[in-house]
Amino acid sequence: MSKEIAEQPGVLSDAIRHYLPDGKTDIVLPGAEMAFNMVNRVIMVACGTAFFACLTAKYWFEQIAGLPVEVDVASEFRYRQPPIPPGNVALFVSQSGETADTLAALRYCAGKADRIVSVVNVAESSIARESDLVLPIHAGIEIGVASTKAFTCQLSILLMLALKAARDRGRMPDADMAEHIQALRALPSTINTALAQGDTIRKAAQRLSQARDVLFLGRGRIYPLAHEGALKLKETSYIHAEAYASGELKHGPIALVDKHMPVVVMAPRDELFGKIVSNMQEVMARKGKVILISDEAGIKAAPDGVWSTIRMPTIYPNLAPILYAIPVQLLAYHTAVARGTDVDQPRNLAKSVTVE
Ligand code: AGP
Repeated sequence: MSKEIAEQPGVLSDAIRHYLPDGKTDIVLPGAEMAFNMVNRVIMVACGTAFFACLTAKYWFEQIAGLPVEVDVASEFRYRQPPIPPGNVALFVSQSGETADTLAALRYCAGKADRIVSVVNVAESSIARESDLVLPIHAGIEIGVASTKAFTCQLSILLMLALKAARDRGRMPDADMAEHIQALRALPSTINTALAQGDTIRKAAQRLSQARDVLFLGRGRIYPLAHEGALKLKETSYIHAEAYASGELKHGPIALVDKHMPVVVMAPRDELFGKIVSNMQEVMARKGKVILISDEAGIKAAPDGVWSTIRMPTIYPNLAPILYAIPVQLLAYHTAVARGTDVDQPRNLAKSVTVE
């Protein structure tokens, strides 16, 4: 797991270059052409970490490309059997390309959706074979049961797909596209800077390893990362963790908060930062122990009394979800090592769930 976390700058550089060749100023998709100007909605279906990549992509497709997105976990979608009207593209994300529920959901959409698109790490997998358009993530073989480099590569490909959709739909002026391209090309080195925070994160993990329950909070495009952070912690260190949109705290979860409850708050200084500051104050007023993951501006503006801070480099807002995957991966890894669990082969888990 540690090796695969460290491989991310290299594999991301490769993945991005496949869709954004040096010198190009637009996204180039491999294989069959895919134009989004006639698409009315994108349906995204996956499981686990891949599902959280889809949840993140929903914000990008809706906010950048103005495209409605429906996202669901495959095990629910396949039995919900939703209507799929014309103009819908069905997109499936799967590292292994063999997850039974995701494959079943794809087969439900075949013949109903206008296009079947898959974002996979194994190009010759079942899900790839049954897709009209395959978008490889170029993460290299991922052995660790807890998905890390595949997740950030999935996110990068999904962001580039959303950028292409925005261009196709005339919603992405050249100047905005240039800012996204610049941030994408700089992403591997930005992630290297985040990886250098390993020691700070290990210290925060030492404290986290004593916890029985942990809350992860986020807002906006970062919110799905709270789910990924909770899953990573659960599946590697066996600590119960759950994620909430921080605006939901008042609707119940704040009752959980006391001096025994660490609360990981993921909040770059973006347009919603002010909102999450008040959520942090609510938590700290109840003696909750906040671990804040933010950038320099966010850490400066945060209220006093934060239990731990993990500083991320400042990044173009739309790329923050990819960058903030690094601290949650490292937090889970170091917490699990502190607890002595097997991070590479956690109990009860398989790398690919090929049965229901
Ligand atoms: C991720 O850390 C988990 N091991 C698991 O949730 C995984 O993401 C899920 O089983 C989906 O696998 P896939 O991407 O191969 O379809």
